[in-house]
Amino acid sequence: MKFRVAPTRRLQGEGEVPGDKSVSHRAALLGALAEGVSEVHGFLEAEDCLCTLAAVQALGAEVTRKAPGHYRIAGSGRRGLSEPSDVIDCGNSGTLARLLPGVLTGLPFWTLLTGDASLRGRPMGRIAEPLRAMGATIVGRAEGTRLPLAIRGSTTPKAIDYATPVASAQVKSAVLLAGLAADGPVSVTEPAPSRDHSERMLRRFGVRVTTAERTVRLVPGPLRATSVAVPGDISSAAFLLVAGAIVAEARVTLHRVGVNPTRTGVLDVLEAMGARVATDRLADEGEPTASLTVTSGALRPTEIGGAALIPRLIDEVPVLAVLAAIAPGVTVVRDARELRVKESDRIAAVARELGKMGAAIEERPDGMAIAGGRRLHGARVASGGDHRIAMALAVAALVADGETLVDDVACVATSFPGFADVLNALAGTTIIRMEE
Ligand code: S3P
Repeated sequence: MKFRVAPTRRLQGEGEVPGDKSVSHRAALLGALAEGVSEVHGFLEAEDCLCTLAAVQALGAEVTRKAPGHYRIAGSGRRGLSEPSDVIDCGNSGTLARLLPGVLTGLPFWTLLTGDASLRGRPMGRIAEPLRAMGATIVGRAEGTRLPLAIRGSTTPKAIDYATPVASAQVKSAVLLAGLAADGPVSVTEPAPSRDHSERMLRRFGVRVTTAERTVRLVPGPLRATSVAVPGDISSAAFLLVAGAIVAEARVTLHRVGVNPTRTGVLDVLEAMGARVATDRLADEGEPTASLTVTSGALRPTEIGGAALIPRLIDEVPVLAVLAAIAPGVTVVRDARELRVKESDRIAAVARELGKMGAAIEERPDGMAIAGGRRLHGARVASGGDHRIAMALAVAALVADGETLVDDVACVATSFPGFADVLNALAGTTIIRMEE
């Protein structure tokens, strides 16, 4: 599948982006662990999160789809979960592959996990190490650090105080989920705060979780079923915000976007680079939400780095690189080595593929230097099977001279299935065509 993208001078209108991927995964996992019936609204019906629903069903939770994005998840606590009869396929989802082992560490049976080729290449040692310390048996490829993995937990994992070397919400969440069943309080200390969706949602499900600076502490206990309203995903909104910042006649408003401060680094960078983003109608539904309106402005370069900022925008770097390629001057991204172990090596992919469109990007071990202000030209580029690379390239193509072909875009369905339709609606004409 490919995108054929024509440039546009106009993006006008308003709409919503699909549900937050991180929050949707957590709603499915916590709903399955809780006693009683949880209702989830705004669930992201994209491949990654549908894998999580299938995984909790394989473990014995009852999932009913009531309406688009509205799910009813019936659980009977950890007791209600039992050994799956087949391998659980995590598809392309790093979050599922890293959070589910946390849940499994509190379950006294074997579960087998695998994923697609990209996911099987991603590091799992970062969760296997603390979960083994809590008593899980984890075996698999590469000394148990790559999928497929087999995991056997216990009814009462050992409590630990874990200092993680990476600021990763997936690692933090895995330990917290294992801690729900532990023999005492668990804590995780990170080098810098990562997204806190697990902490917020665990509290909503009645669990005692406290945060002091870089340390999160959880007191084991049962989960009480509740309702969850999933906000729009700011990581999906980011593509439309950058599009609005670079297309000449743009004014785009996105409603109910999640603006959790651990996720809004992209807004800080848009502002620092001269794009105008107005925030309106702030609300709190367990996660803060807002309407965001972007209009184009005169762009300038910036520095994107530092332990405090990078985890707040890690998934947005590919599309911010597009913004930097348009803004005159040199933008530097540093401290972002983690990009090399995402759905693809995103530093290499951005430099190589945007380079084909005329961008001047120097790859560095922990980031890149982007000499912006050059005119981009249409080219044939490829996502390498990475959804965020596919969408970032399509956004770049909106302001290129001539037509761009983006190969291998079926992966967009992992996080933002309606991406092309939304941009076509904002352009008022078909600018992105899906082709076989
Ligand atoms: C996620 C955490 C981040 C992010 C990923 C989703 C999550 O990964 O890149 O897309 O939902 O916890 P890390 O925890 O590895 O930084």
